Amino acid sequence: MKGKSLVSILDYQVEEYLQIIQLASEFEALKHQNILHGKVVGSLFFEPSTRTRLSFESAVNHSGGRIIGFSDSNTSSSTKGESLKDTILTVANYCDLIVMRHPHDGAAKFASEISPVPIINAGDGANQHPTQTLLDMYSIYKTQGKLDNLTISLIGDLKYGRTVHSLLMAMMNFSPKFNLVSPKELCLPVEYKKILNAHSVPFNEDTDLHTILPETDILYMTRVQKERFSDPIEYEKNKNLYVLKSSMLENTKDNMKILHPLPRVNEISQCVDSSPKAYYFQQAKNGMFTRQAIISSILGLI
Ligand code: CP
Repeated sequence: MKGKSLVSILDYQVEEYLQIIQLASEFEALKHQNILHGKVVGSLFFEPSTRTRLSFESAVNHSGGRIIGFSDSNTSSSTKGESLKDTILTVANYCDLIVMRHPHDGAAKFASEISPVPIINAGDGANQHPTQTLLDMYSIYKTQGKLDNLTISLIGDLKYGRTVHSLLMAMMNFSPKFNLVSPKELCLPVEYKKILNAHSVPFNEDTDLHTILPETDILYMTRVQKERFSDPIEYEKNKNLYVLKSSMLENTKDNMKILHPLPRVNEISQCVDSSPKAYYFQQAKNGMFTRQAIISSILGLI
């Protein structure tokens, strides 16, 4: 991991996933205090964010480092026509590592190819969100005590959902069964199904949320992402198809946990929040520990 960019979850092997999970638990136990002392992290968010940006900032602050950057690209010189290449080459002069979110698929890969400092992809368009996946894996491990042989049901926008794409690619290494529940228009892209098939990973595509609930260990809800639709009518047609309510949890397994990368819109009713099966806010907290682990590993400090 040392010195390497994290662009796709496929950049890491199974042992590296496990190493990040172990390190995240150590950061949660308040080990490795001030490990980022003297380090500066660049944070370039060309697309809105609450959790990813603030948990990266919190991770750096809690570890004694400093963070610079922008949360709104309208305040950067990209509004004057500066290219992404020039922005990266400039900011790399000021920091040891760059965290970047960008609306275009492939932007993080491009940045990693020209940057003299490592790039961490904080989400690129509908493509990948690898640090979200690592925090999701830490959350799965903490709640299930294991990563292997779980039934993981992913609900909602499986076409544009970058968190879904990254999670499938990582968890396929742990003998899962996947239930993929979406409207037909938002089903998982064929390139990901081909990878699952090539690795003989069982998956079931469904349009009904109710049928898969009783066997599910991890229920991964996702938002239908308005910002990815070119046709507003298509968004309106699909936006409220899956809404999880408390009554639907009655026949679910005791160990089942509900995850959601957030933000949510309507897909989890607020009455679910008080259920012991609701884990999405703890999941967001796990993001801070996981990102401490990722940054420290890439900077070769641990
Ligand atoms: N999960 C996630 O990426 O949330 P934000 O868009 O708020 O960063």
